[in-house]
Amino acid sequence: MSEHLFVKTGENKGYFIFLENSFSSLSAYMKEQGFCDKKMCIVTDSVVNGLYSADLKDAIADVSIRTDIFVFEAGEEHKNLDTVKDLYRFLTERKYDRKDLIIALGGGVTGDLAGFAAATYLRGISFIQVPTTLLSCTDSSIGGKTGVDLDDYKNMVGAFHMPSLVYMNLSTLKTLSARQFASGMAEVIKHGLIKDEAYYSYLVNHFSEINDREEDVLLYVIKRSLEIKRDVVEKDPTEQGDRALLNFGHTIGHAIEKYSGLKLFHGECVALGSIAAAYISYQRGNLSTEEFYEIRDMFLPFFLPITLESEAEPEEILKLTKSDKKMQSGKIRFILLKKVGKAVIDTTVTDEEILNGIRQLILSDEWD
Ligand SMILES: NC(=O)c1ccc[n+]([C@@H]2O[C@H](COP(=O)([O-])OP(=O)(O)OC[C@H]3O[C@@H](n4cnc5c(N)ncnc54)[C@H](O)[C@@H]3O)[C@@H](O)[C@H]2O)c1
Ligand SMILES: [Zn+2]
Repeated sequence: MSEHLFVKTGENKGYFIFLENSFSSLSAYMKEQGFCDKKMCIVTDSVVNGLYSADLKDAIADVSIRTDIFVFEAGEEHKNLDTVKDLYRFLTERKYDRKDLIIALGGGVTGDLAGFAAATYLRGISFIQVPTTLLSCTDSSIGGKTGVDLDDYKNMVGAFHMPSLVYMNLSTLKTLSARQFASGMAEVIKHGLIKDEAYYSYLVNHFSEINDREEDVLLYVIKRSLEIKRDVVEKDPTEQGDRALLNFGHTIGHAIEKYSGLKLFHGECVALGSIAAAYISYQRGNLSTEEFYEIRDMFLPFFLPITLESEAEPEEILKLTKSDKKMQSGKIRFILLKKVGKAVIDTTVTDEEILNGIRQLILSDEWD
């Protein structure tokens, strides 16, 4: 089992994504790309460190002149500038220079944080992504968006910095908790909804094989999601236009994430945000009643939430959408579905529509 893709970042420029089942081919690919005879710093969180750091360190022993491991406490609440500062110090004390390399081993939190440190340390050094969550394998490890949260503001400080290589050892997904796996599925479903109706239908029809993490099905799903994301980011690497489509479900999703005080996972909030955005699309006549309810209910077999607790306050969540940074001249660039498999950017979505989208999440139990 092995697949690869190439992401173009310019004329004769780009990076490979390798999908493998172990770490054993990594050093050969690194050699091919000229990543050898360097100091290498594996950046990882406290959970993944115990699971995979040692294996990764062994796997790169023949290409690295010295491998260091920087470990930070797992969790979104540590994706911040304090952790980045610790990492800068770690690299400085060990005399990392511009030719050296950072390897992000872990989920989206690790990739975003290590990528941001790589973008800024000495004005930029190379980094490799080794994603180990479904979310990071299908979404966050490609496209070069890096960054950290600032207080309650998600991804407020960041930089575009492309990885030099993305290497996935898909066997690492076996140790992922059911809830973390589900969280990744939200971004996968998003890819189908915004770009590919046939893929969306495939997901609906294969929920049981996907949840069982059947190897060939997972390989297909990850590859297809990566292709969709790649096609979008290749055309619009810095989000001047269509890349914003990938934010489907994220305006309300990020607001819910903040509102929940990070109790809900990113993907769980994306699921709720996607349902609210689909509801607004339905209210505008873009989706039929059946289509809206099918979208809403398809999150259930993937163990994702489709409702908010009854005490949730729509007005407060609406307020939090205003602090989302995806605003342009004071207007939210909202992503709606034109139909299943086709998303559009819309700057005319009103507060009332957003409130109704959120209310629908709270009331939907009573509506059934
Ligand atoms: N840069 C982008 O384009 C982009 C896109 C989407 C999401 N994101 C970001 O990604 C983050 C969410 O990523 P995530 O869901 O991967 O979170 P995460 O990195 O926090 O990982 C989730 C949890 O799973 C653990 N874990 C990781 N790999 C494991 C494995 N193989 N086995 C067992 N446990 C494992 C981690 O230690 C962590 O506790 C958010 O901060 C979000 O903003 C970024
Ligand atoms: Zn996301």
